[in-house]
Amino acid sequence: MNITVCFDKLDPAPWVQGLQAALPQAQVSAWAPGSGVADHAVVWAPPQAFIDEQVGLKTLFNIGAGVDALLKLQLPPDLQVVRLDDAGMSVQMAEYVTHAVIRHFREFDAYAADTQAGRWSYRKPRSRADFPVGVMGLGVLGARVAQALRVFDYPVNGYSRSPKPIEGVRGYAGTEQLGAFLQASRILVNLMPLTPETENILNRETLSQLQPGGYLINVARGRHLVEEDLMALIDSGHLAGATLDVFRTEPLPADHPFWRHPHITVTPHTSARTLRDESIAQIAGKILAKQRGEPIRGVVDARRGY
Ligand SMILES: NC(=O)c1ccc[n+]([C@@H]2O[C@H](COP(=O)([O-])OP(=O)(O)OC[C@H]3O[C@@H](n4cnc5c(N)ncnc54)[C@H](OP(=O)(O)O)[C@@H]3O)[C@@H](O)[C@H]2O)c1
Repeated sequence: MNITVCFDKLDPAPWVQGLQAALPQAQVSAWAPGSGVADHAVVWAPPQAFIDEQVGLKTLFNIGAGVDALLKLQLPPDLQVVRLDDAGMSVQMAEYVTHAVIRHFREFDAYAADTQAGRWSYRKPRSRADFPVGVMGLGVLGARVAQALRVFDYPVNGYSRSPKPIEGVRGYAGTEQLGAFLQASRILVNLMPLTPETENILNRETLSQLQPGGYLINVARGRHLVEEDLMALIDSGHLAGATLDVFRTEPLPADHPFWRHPHITVTPHTSARTLRDESIAQIAGKILAKQRGEPIRGVVDARRGY
């Protein structure tokens, strides 16, 4: 069995080494044009030339959860695309989002300003009932985030394509329930995949349906958000602010107004990082499961887009 590793802007060497150690019976190598045809590939943003050359591939393992960039390539219809299925990402995402929600709800930015000014000043306690959190996308990451928020007793609403019951979470499903979901939420967390259906879904019309003083946490993809609409809604006072981890252009350009906006927190696409050891163990386990003819999790449905 041959496994090839093809990454854009990332050193493949430790992955080759790790996969080789996990699968000693396989031949694992980093891809270079003309380096031979493999059975399985482990990829991050591979070029079309890689796909065109790898005519014998059975599986394409993406080392991230989102496959929007991969699905833009011309892929053979019978090629199985497999995404990372948690592999240590959901706990990071739960940490990031609960931190952003708690920081906003408990007004920690105001306390940080007080610290700078040497000012001892209490703020009036707020009621959690006034800060219902809506989680858009209840998959591997969204479900974990919704459960983590419940631990802190926030009212949590969940939105997905198909109904997804989660204990303690009020569920909404399908576009016909999107309005009701938004109107029931004050803080909005986006954890949907980027597909033709979800691109630009965070826009003036949807964001203005959040309860007054709404707050956006976008941790999925930059192309979900119409950036000017967010700025306009914050500047008009309808939204209180946003924590953004993903952007239409990454890295976020130095002159982008988000950097200097007093109510926007920017992080560099870091909310849930790919963890190498966990990911290698997961991919190796799936290759072995496939050899035994067992089903594996995380297989992408290209028609659905995720
Ligand atoms: N910022 C970061 O560092 C980072 C890291 C990892 C992932 N991500 C992003 O997070 C996304 C989610 O990852 P995941 O592993 O949780 O994905 P997932 O398990 O595939 O879950 C996707 C969820 O979104 C829902 N959904 C899809 N299309 C929808 C639509 N049109 N309307 C309503 N709901 C829709 C799905 O509904 P159903 O349940 O009905 O299928 C599902 O609940 C990834 O695609 C990636 O873009 C970001």
